[in-house]
Amino acid sequence: MALPALLCLCAAAFSTHGDYRLAGLFPMHAPAPRAAARPLVDSCDDPATFKSHGYSLSQAMRFTVEEINNSSAILPNVTLGYDIHDTCSEPANLHATLRALIQKGRQEVEVLPTFLHYEPQVVAVIGPDSTQLALTTAAVLGLFLMPEISYEASSEMLSLKRFYPSFLRTIPSDRQQVKAIFLLLQRFGWTWVVLLGSDNAYGRDGLEALYKLLTKSNICVAYRGIIPVHKDASSPELHNLVRILKDIRVNVTVVFSSRRSARSFFEVVIQKNITGMVWVGSEDWSLAPAIWQVPGIQSIGSVIGMSIEKTEPTMLERFQSWKIAQRSAAAEHAGSTGAGGGTRGDTQLDCTQSCTSCHLSAAVPNMYDAQASFNVYSAVYAVAHGLHDLLGCASGACSKGKVYPWQLLQKIKEVNFTLYKSHISFDTNGDIQKGYDIIMWNWSGLSWAFNVIGTFSVNPDRLNIDESKILWHTKDQQAPTSLCSEACQPGEKRLQRNRHRCCFSCVACPAGTFLNRSDLYSCQSCRVDEWAPARSEACFNRTVEFLSWSEPLSWALLTLAVLLMLLIAGLTLLFALNASTPVVKSAGGKMCFLMLGSLACACSSLFFYFGEPTWHTCLLRLPVFNISFTIFLSCIATRSFQIICIFKLNARWPALYEAWLRRGGPVLCIAASTAAQAGLCLALEAASPSVPRRDYGAWAGRVVLECGGAGRAASAYTALLSAGCFALSYAGKDLPAGYNEAKCLTCSLLLQLACSAAALCTQGALRGRAREAAGALGALSALGAALGGYFLPRAFVILLRPHRNTPQHFQMAIQSYTRRLGSA
Ligand SMILES: *[C@@H]1O[C@H](CO)[C@@H](O)[C@H](O)[C@H]1NC(C)=O
Ligand SMILES: *[C@@H]1O[C@H](CO)[C@@H](O)[C@H](O)[C@H]1NC(C)=O
Ligand SMILES: *[C@@H]1O[C@H](CO)[C@@H](O)[C@H](O)[C@H]1NC(C)=O
Ligand SMILES: *[C@@H]1O[C@H](CO)[C@@H](O)[C@H](O)[C@H]1NC(C)=O
Ligand SMILES: *[C@@H]1O[C@H](CO)[C@@H](O)[C@H](O)[C@H]1NC(C)=O
Ligand SMILES: *[C@@H]1O[C@H](CO)[C@@H](O)[C@H](O)[C@H]1NC(C)=O
Ligand SMILES: *[C@@H]1O[C@H](CO)[C@@H](O)[C@H](O)[C@H]1NC(C)=O
Ligand SMILES: *[C@@H]1O[C@H](CO)[C@@H](O)[C@H](O)[C@H]1NC(C)=O
Ligand SMILES: *[C@@H]1O[C@H](CO)[C@@H](O)[C@H](O)[C@H]1NC(C)=O
Repeated sequence: MALPALLCLCAAAFSTHGDYRLAGLFPMHAPAPRAAARPLVDSCDDPATFKSHGYSLSQAMRFTVEEINNSSAILPNVTLGYDIHDTCSEPANLHATLRALIQKGRQEVEVLPTFLHYEPQVVAVIGPDSTQLALTTAAVLGLFLMPEISYEASSEMLSLKRFYPSFLRTIPSDRQQVKAIFLLLQRFGWTWVVLLGSDNAYGRDGLEALYKLLTKSNICVAYRGIIPVHKDASSPELHNLVRILKDIRVNVTVVFSSRRSARSFFEVVIQKNITGMVWVGSEDWSLAPAIWQVPGIQSIGSVIGMSIEKTEPTMLERFQSWKIAQRSAAAEHAGSTGAGGGTRGDTQLDCTQSCTSCHLSAAVPNMYDAQASFNVYSAVYAVAHGLHDLLGCASGACSKGKVYPWQLLQKIKEVNFTLYKSHISFDTNGDIQKGYDIIMWNWSGLSWAFNVIGTFSVNPDRLNIDESKILWHTKDQQAPTSLCSEACQPGEKRLQRNRHRCCFSCVACPAGTFLNRSDLYSCQSCRVDEWAPARSEACFNRTVEFLSWSEPLSWALLTLAVLLMLLIAGLTLLFALNASTPVVKSAGGKMCFLMLGSLACACSSLFFYFGEPTWHTCLLRLPVFNISFTIFLSCIATRSFQIICIFKLNARWPALYEAWLRRGGPVLCIAASTAAQAGLCLALEAASPSVPRRDYGAWAGRVVLECGGAGRAASAYTALLSAGCFALSYAGKDLPAGYNEAKCLTCSLLLQLACSAAALCTQGALRGRAREAAGALGALSALGAALGGYFLPRAFVILLRPHRNTPQHFQMAIQSYTRRLGSA
């Protein structure tokens, strides 16, 4: 279809007067490449490059101004006018910008030291469309603080109020779009992606912002490329780019590109047979007919795109019917002047508000135009609301005074109103607070449609995706994956293989460490009271090990201890009843009760071995046993010594023995030995207190709770004493049996020594419960041996051999001993 020209040689493409005028900058033609021989502003009139999108938006501005004019709710009795310019090229845009700054009533832009009282023809500028043009316009208008509201320039750069103080926009900033794309990639778990951007401010800035955001996250950018602009499908650069894309073998590509660049790019993609890819599109091209009308594009895979939030259908319907009314009015007008097709000469005079034949191409409404139209609509309303406020119309009558641009700018920044359920307000950067719809192309055969599969809302940023609306254009209709490395098994850490975090191999976490889900790249050590098996994702409490009261082993040991106690009690009773018999007397008389008492005391120390060790059980356990047992052994030693004295020394040095007895030798001896042991115990406690301690080194899954301290020296002293007793009893082994039961005692002391030695040795080798049990068992057997060796033989005589428990029997034994000595 040959597009007709839009020929208007008036000051602006469309223009009408009003109390306050707005300038509109819309691209209605593409830039015509033309080598200018002399300074010349492009005339935007090449019919071959007519852009229906820009034209449609300019009509939206006219419609909005008329609606505000008609309305009595906003700006009553105040009329708005407009100058609409065609910004087909950079020079044309700058020209239009400067025209907007012309002072009221004059034909010049005056350069003053301050623009505080500068009153230009127009009070605000709507547009321009692209980031490239908006940057220039915003820089120039910023000087005058003239409000500028763009409807399509989305670059993040324009948010910098330091450089562009008077710039506002009704399209969300690309910062939001970048966030939405980022959340989308995260939502589908695509961590291995290619980013492509067009070679202009829009593409480069978007690409840069997206790259920054992605590198801070868990998503890796396999390749970052720039799509050249103004290149057609035969360009080697484009072919090269697509070849790289094919080689990298990613499944997801983000294309942050302007429409023009995207078109040639996709033409090459189709030529190169890339299929099954997921394309994430930026708002500029994802709904643009120029892209989806590329032949063969349905084969490229699934296209997910960003699109400005759904437009209000009510506004669109009204706009549509207004356009139809305009068209018929224009046709009438054309009919009355008799210029249908029109030559250049005819239309030159016809500076009406519409372009008669432009409607032909703009007749097909599309989603893309509709959305941008609403942006224009919002922008004009924002200016109107600001003006409404500035002129004090809220009181009922507008003041219609002078309006300086900077005054209006302040008011526009504060507007907060509702347009068909859409809230319009600007943030501190002058960006509208608005989200995106996430759309997906839906091809059924050759017919194109799109589904809104989700939304991205700002403040707070949230992405909602409706899975049921998604139609994947893949072989298996399933969501494609895009990963450099498959996720590791649970409990395996990632070992990065190259500069991309997403490319890794998996290594199992060793025992004692775990993988915290918040850091997948290192295994963390468990706390000291916890443990973990290999490949673990958590640590477990270690079980605390000690000899508890309720174990069968404890029961056995406790039973033995109780039996021993009962035995001691029985023996005490027996000896008390037979206190006056020779056997008891020979055993030491009253000293027997001290010995039995000390054994009972030593036996009671056994109960400290059970249950969770506490400070006092640990402290008492060994001293009680050692001191008590020392008393017992000291008694035995003095007793044996005395008997040897009676039979061997008394004969030779009677005076010495007398002195020994008279000075209380036995008592002193026992006391001294006990005191030495007590002193030793005290010193040891002072040197290394025996308090409960936790040993984490013994087993991985258990923590051993035991008594610390060095009780071994005390045990060594006891053992030494036993050895002394053994020596003494061995020396007296040939003395009368009734006095000494020497064989049994020697045996038992030997047994006891063996037990002590075994206990001392096992202390080092055993841990935890076994060690406690071994300690208790050692003490038990020492006690048992002592009882068995010293008291049981005598009890046996008292109970079962009463005839040997008579003074006569003892007398005979002594006599036979003396006789033996004599004969020897
Ligand atoms: C605005 O309305 C006034 C009357 O209400 C009318 O004279 C003027 O032409 C209108 N302007 C536009 C642009 O519709
Ligand atoms: C404004 O009012 C005029 C006359 O009432 C009407 O023809 C026109 O359609 C209205 N325009 C809008 C945009 O409502
Ligand atoms: C693309 O596929 C078509 C048919 O499937 C084939 O004829 C053509 O050579 C392929 N082109 C490339 C660049 O692989
Ligand atoms: C608008 O102007 C008309 C006539 O000029 C006047 O009658 C009317 O009261 C004005 N309305 C407001 C709200 O100022
Ligand atoms: C706009 O006004 C509404 C109430 O009318 C309020 O809830 C909202 O916070 C305002 N927004 C801003 C940005 O001031
Ligand atoms: C895709 O479009 C076709 C018609 O164009 C429609 O019938 C179908 O429901 C759409 N698919 C989805 C998932 O909405
Ligand atoms: C791309 O998708 C295919 C098929 O779904 C899959 O086999 C392949 O692993 C994916 N490639 C990447 C890099 O994820
Ligand atoms: C994992 O790490 C996070 C942050 O470092 C921490 O808050 C969390 O408690 C850790 N989880 C475990 C199980 O240690
Ligand atoms: C581990 O021990 C701590 C404190 O000792 C306790 O609070 C926690 O509940 C225990 N955890 C489990 C799983 O038993």
